[in-house]
Amino acid sequence: MSTIFINAAQVVTCSGPPRARRGAEMNDAGILDGAGVAVVEGSISAVAPREDLERQHPDAEIIDCGGRVLTPGLVDSHTHAIFGRARYEEQEQRAAGVGYMEIARRGGGIHSSVADLRSRSEDDLYSLARDRVARLASYGSTTIEVKSGYGLSLDDELKSLRVVARLSRDLPVRLVPTWLGAHEIPLDYRESDSRRRDYIHLLVHQMLPLIAAEGLARFADVFCEPGVFTVDETRSILQASAAAGLGIKLHADELEPHGGAELGVELGAVSADHLGAISDAGIAALASSSTVATLLPGTMFFLGRHRQAPARRMIDAGAAISLATDFNPGTSPTFNFPLILTLGVSQLRMTVAEALVAATVNGAAALGLAARTGQIAPGYSADLALWEAEDVREIPYWYGDRRCMGTWVRGKPCHSHKPADNLNLSRPPEPGSARQSRP
Ligand code: NIG
Ligand code: FE
Repeated sequence: MSTIFINAAQVVTCSGPPRARRGAEMNDAGILDGAGVAVVEGSISAVAPREDLERQHPDAEIIDCGGRVLTPGLVDSHTHAIFGRARYEEQEQRAAGVGYMEIARRGGGIHSSVADLRSRSEDDLYSLARDRVARLASYGSTTIEVKSGYGLSLDDELKSLRVVARLSRDLPVRLVPTWLGAHEIPLDYRESDSRRRDYIHLLVHQMLPLIAAEGLARFADVFCEPGVFTVDETRSILQASAAAGLGIKLHADELEPHGGAELGVELGAVSADHLGAISDAGIAALASSSTVATLLPGTMFFLGRHRQAPARRMIDAGAAISLATDFNPGTSPTFNFPLILTLGVSQLRMTVAEALVAATVNGAAALGLAARTGQIAPGYSADLALWEAEDVREIPYWYGDRRCMGTWVRGKPCHSHKPADNLNLSRPPEPGSARQSRP
């Protein structure tokens, strides 16, 4: 079974070695004019002139790109897509000057999402997450990392990760599960240092072995931040996770610099994420490592912060940057990965090529998938996105628009978007704080 994609205005290949692009390498997205792409058994077999491909595959199904832009499907390497209700009440609190950490200290923030998630059945969470993952995919993502982290108990973390496993089986999009049991210290473990140690013991000695044994997560992540998990706690949780066979990631230097990036490098993390407050030493450490720096400019934008991660300095130092949505109910409730590319260019001052590389090949590297997805090159999974654009620079330019016309995963249609889809009113209402729908 073969397919040939023809008549694309541009094919953005991002092709090259199966590893993250760093420094100046990021500025080459491998844009080809007049190329076709052949897909055999779900994998890309050739990128060549249309005539050559038609000669080699006379019986192939033809997909006419109609003068649009074809790119690798986007790789969203950081989302918290398993949650219950929305948290729109916090947006006005922040606008009135109450800080993110202060909202959390008052019992809002992550804790309110935890209380809500614990009250929901697995089926309820599944249907909420299914709709949200489909929306993420509708903007061009073909691989999406999904974290747990609003359960914070053995049963509720398992419930969250089982939802991801079910979605993986039921949806065509490629999902990568990450265990984030160390997203916060739950409220009932906060009254003393010894209770705090009890929670870390629960993470390492009860949750981790079960999650690893059931194969429910590929990565472990920790929210390493002053006021949440310390550098030493993060180190011990992630070392145990690595010993249990999981890859490791961390939320690092998001709001205050505290050596999080350096810790990621020390532990050989596949990525260190956020980095809005990274230090010069952290930049130097990342630049000389294979740890990908995952930047999440939508989070800083939504929180109304004026400081973004110093992407330019990081790239110039030789680091490998990826971009992702950080989709979550508290700090980045967007489905729109192309909007993150816009922020990458306008706020992080990246070139369009750097932003695209960051959202494809480097996102894949941040998930240990650099040899499988994120490039249009022979041997890669046929994970593709077609855009309503004649020039790739239109993708970040028409900001906030949904220009993705369709995606393919492993050569099979994943998402197709027609403007009339917007008129489908049959969707169940979003559970919000004002009118919560509980099972
Ligand atoms: O990536 N930083 C920690 N976690 C999320 C926010 C979680 C929340 O507010 O619900 C983040 O920004
Ligand atoms: Fe996050």
